[in-house]
Formats: sequence, C-alpha cells, structure tokens
Amino acid sequence: MNRIKTLNEYSESYAKSIQNRDAFWSEIAHSFQWRKPWSSVCEGSMEAGSYSWFNAGELNITENLLDKHLTEKGNQVALIWEPNEPSVDFRKFTYNELHNEVCLVAEMLRSMGVRKGDRVCIYMSMVPELVFSVLACARIGAVHSVIFGGFSAKSIADRVDDAEADFVITMDGGLRGNKTIPLKAVVDEALTSTRKIKNVLVYNYLNLPTEKKEIDVDWNELKARVLSNNDYIKPGETMQSEDPLFILYTSGSTGKPKGVVHSTAGYMVWTAYTFLNVFQYQEGDIHFCTADIGWITGHSYLIYGPLLNGSTSLMFEGIPTFPDAGRFWDIVAKHKVSIFYTAPTAIRSLMSAGDEFLEGKNLTSLRILGSVGEPINEEAWNWYNEKIGKGHCPIVDTFWQTETGGIMISSLAGVTPSKPVFATLPLPGVQPVLLNEQGQEILENETTGNLCFAQPWPGMIRTTYGDHARCVMNYFSAYPGYYFTGDGAYRDSNGMYRLTGRVDDVLNVSGHRIGTAEVENAINHTPGVIESAVVGYPHDIKGQGIFAFVICDPHHHLEDHEQIQAITKTVSEQIGAIAKPDKIVLVSGLPKTRSGKIMRRILRKIAEGEFDAIGDTTTLLDPSVVQEIMAKAK
Ligand code: PRX
Repeated sequence: MNRIKTLNEYSESYAKSIQNRDAFWSEIAHSFQWRKPWSSVCEGSMEAGSYSWFNAGELNITENLLDKHLTEKGNQVALIWEPNEPSVDFRKFTYNELHNEVCLVAEMLRSMGVRKGDRVCIYMSMVPELVFSVLACARIGAVHSVIFGGFSAKSIADRVDDAEADFVITMDGGLRGNKTIPLKAVVDEALTSTRKIKNVLVYNYLNLPTEKKEIDVDWNELKARVLSNNDYIKPGETMQSEDPLFILYTSGSTGKPKGVVHSTAGYMVWTAYTFLNVFQYQEGDIHFCTADIGWITGHSYLIYGPLLNGSTSLMFEGIPTFPDAGRFWDIVAKHKVSIFYTAPTAIRSLMSAGDEFLEGKNLTSLRILGSVGEPINEEAWNWYNEKIGKGHCPIVDTFWQTETGGIMISSLAGVTPSKPVFATLPLPGVQPVLLNEQGQEILENETTGNLCFAQPWPGMIRTTYGDHARCVMNYFSAYPGYYFTGDGAYRDSNGMYRLTGRVDDVLNVSGHRIGTAEVENAINHTPGVIESAVVGYPHDIKGQGIFAFVICDPHHHLEDHEQIQAITKTVSEQIGAIAKPDKIVLVSGLPKTRSGKIMRRILRKIAEGEFDAIGDTTTLLDPSVVQEIMAKAK
C-alpha cells in the first residue's frame, strides 16, 4: 500500500476514489494477504443500509497484522506496554512474541470450546492480555465485544444478553491511577441476571481475592496446560470478508446502546489505509494512542491500524494525571514516541494543570499530533501545537465515529492543509455532503448543515447486532440515499469541514458518547423519582457536562441532597461513573408543550445559564415552571 505523500497525490487519489471507487479499493486491497481473492469489490445500497465489500474473499485479519510481518519484522517491537505505576517495569513484545501470545490465547479459547462466530465479551483493563484476547478472538473467528472497564454490572449484563455471548474474558482487577477496579466482582454481579454463560476466563493480575465460580477458568492454569502441549502455533480460521469481526456498543438517541457490527475485510482495509495516510506512518515510528481499547479509537488506532502497518504501538495502562499531569510527556520521552494521538478532554485537562508539568520533558521525538472524539477548541489546539508540538508537528483533527470504523475527515499530517479547529478534508473514498432539514443537499460553501456521507466506504457499519431495522432507522432513513452521522458541520470557502456538534439527543462527555435517554432511564430507576430530563451544557474540561432536571415524589421522604446522592448512585449502577450527571436540580415540573413533549431547548438554555435567551414560553402547558427551574438552577 502506497502512502500519499503530496497534496497532488491526495487530489488524484481522492478523484479516483470517487470516480472509480471499486478500482481504487481493489488496488489497495491487493496489498493484503488473502486466502481467496474477492469476486466483487462493493455491493449494496444506502436505502437498505447494507453493503458488502470484497465479496467472496477469504482471509484472516490476524495473519495480516502478525504472520505477514514475521519474516521481515519478527524482531521489531509490535507492542509496548507502559504500566500505571511509573516504578513498574514496562513490557514489550516483538512481532514474533505477539504472534506467539496471540496463538497461545487463541488455543486457550479453542480448548474452552470457543468457535468461529461465537460472541466473546471482554471486560478487562489496559493490560497486554487484553490485546492478546482481542486478537485471539479474531484469530479463531470469534466475534469480540470489548466492554469499557468503567461500565457497571448492569451495562455488562445488557451487552452480554444483546450480543448473545457465551463467553466472557475478564481479570481479577485493574489499575487506573490510584484506583483498583474489581473487574471480576463486577462481572460476577452482571452474570447473576444474564443468559447462561458457558465460561468466564479469568486472568489473575493483582492477586485480588475473587470468588471462584463453577464456570470460571483460570487463565494461568489453562495457559500452562496449552503450553505443555506445545502445538498451539496454528494458522487463523478462514474468514469470509463479510464475517463479523467485532461488536462494539455505542450510545444513540434511544435508551438502549446499539451493538455496532464491523466486518473483517472492509474494516481491515479501512483502518490500515487511514492509519498509514492520516498519521503518515513511517518505518520506525512509535505510535502512542491514549484511548482505551473499550472504545473504537483503541480498536482501530491502538490495535488494528498500527499493527496492520507493522508499526510499534504503545499502550498505556493508566490515566494522564497519575502520578501527575506530566505522565504522558514522561512516556513520550521514555519511549521516544513519534506519533501521539489523544482526545481534547485530555489536552484541556493537562493544559489546565499548568505548564510546569512540561518542564524538563524531552518531546523532541514527536513528529505528529492527533486529536479525536470531540471538537477541539482553539485554545486547546494552540496549546497542543505550541507546547507539545513546539510549532513543528502537524496536528490531525480526526473526525469519525464508532460506526465509521476509521477516520473519515482529517488532514493527512503535513501533506494536506490543516486549519485550527477544522477536521478539514475527507479521506479518499469519503464523500461528505451537508443536507438541510428538508433533506436537500446544500451545494454552496460557508454554510452549515447535517453531515452525511453519500458513498459507502469499506469500514462502514454493517448492522446493529440482532436488529438490522434499527441500523437502517438510525443511519440510513433520516436522509434516504445517505448515511447520516448525527453531527452538524460547517464547510468553509475552501471546502474544509468543521464539526459543530451532535444534532440529536446524544451528548459527548469527555469524548464519550452518552445518550440523554439512556441517562434519563437510569435516573428514573431511583426510588422516589417520577420523571427526568437530561441535557448537555458546555464544560471547560469535558467539552460537555450532563445536567439533569428531576421531578421527585413529594411523599418520598428524603432531603434534597440525599435524593441527589441516590440519583448519582443509581446512574453509576445502571450505566457507570462516566454517565454521572455533573448537576442535578430537583424541580416540581418540566417545561412541556400541551401535547406533553418536553421542550429541551428551554432546558438547554437554562443549563447554559442563558436565562435571557429562553425565548417564547407561551406554548407551554404551564409557563410558570420555567421561573421555578431557573431559580433552582442558578
Ligand atoms: O460527535 C462526533 C464526535 O464523536 C462522535 C462519535 O463518537 P464515538 O462513536 O464514540 O467515536 C469517537 C471516536 C472516533 C461523533 O459523532 N467526534 C468524533 N471526532 C470528532 C468529533 N467531533 C468533532 N471533531 C472530531 N474530530
């Protein structure tokens, strides 16, 4: 696969990808290892919300990211693991070693009875065994579904049931800063209310006391058994291009997260291609993606994209502020990181910690900086550029989504023009359009609209697990003939895109997608709560904060602060700590229209503190509630 090296090459590639899509992708796909070539490049329709890529092709993705590199790069480091505690030794795995580990875990899974097509939920913290587990699933054709380690037992249970998973992989506990997270205990609790699971594979990391259940399989014992057989290095399962590779749950505007399904070949081609070009990967680069593997960024740009390109990928167990806000920069210096990819929330939080944490840190190895997951504000962009990049590292502001599999709109570092706070131009193969509320394409520039994609791309969502109608409804029916992102965007006079935020009821808190309906559902589980409405508001560090307006039963005798505590606790139990509201106001009514619809516009203005911009309230059933809410929200 050739890297795009000049603006001219980008323009040529882009034009070809639109005018002659199939030939364009066919050429790129040839640089991978196939067991059987594809018979057609792309089939399907936007109306059906269904596409297939590289049809009838056969391959195994792990052979493309491991076996393929062994001859030339067997001794090159594939994965560096930097621990939570700086005093603990880091670990590194060459391509040979990673191949060995993945084959070993693959055989462990096989011996447990995991078969091609089985769904395996993985609830682990950021340790190398998580990467081995993900790739071991892919090796044997099992569908991995990684659940972020911050989700609650209830969230795990929902995902295990929705994915119809038969197996879970977890560990006794994980470390994040100064916290120990009892992962196995959370899984135990989750599994008391789910379908029957065949086995839970438990990696013992911290020697925490855990309950040993009948279905539990001890990682180390099984590993020793498989090792003693000494014949675990086996080829991967033969997979069809369209066989599902993984399910990853993400929030939408309804209460229930969706299981986004990605398929094997299209995702492989897309993540490899976008990684190479956006980050301008070169031999010898050390790529540090700070995202957790529980999110799509960790899947695509910590594991799949870098390893498919034979890069060295660095994974970090901890958090940016432990033991202090200089930790990322220590890691950059220690491992001579050249590509650094993080989220605006992390940038803002490190910026606000103060520049003293940068003193004495050697950042000269950095070549390229990336941003992902939420709009980056100008102040954070400038700080990142000046203080981290020292003005000479191109910043790629990468726009994409769980559903898109990989980066859709971004500059190619140092090759195509960049512009602060703009994601800029589409990747080859991506055809963004702005639509107005009537669904008409807006052709002129210097305007905003709803961001859609007019052409399919290899890494696009294939379905939502178990419910294709939901996939069609969510992404392909608002604007027939287009994929709808749910985001608004502005296009400048040069055709560059700036994302302006979600246009649906989805919040983006610290770069994590959370549906307002999901939080409301959780709040409503609290004893004493009658009804709630959740909106987002601008938050200095998190980008958006969660503001909840809650009506409680006056006969439920709790003091306000107790009721608020109870609500917070319920949200943590139902979803996880990431969804805890930043502000909760107890009110006696919500601004509703006569037909009973909550006027969120009014609540948003109140949450933003823009009391003068509330606008017309005369259509409300009871306009007086607005005064009460404003008084309480002050
Ligand atoms: O609103 C957009 C925002 O994050 C959403 C996707 O979230 P998720 O599926 O969790 O994936 C995050 C990591 C790819 C989008 O709908 N978003 C993502 N990247 C950007 C962004 N908003 C502005 N600028 C970005 N670069």
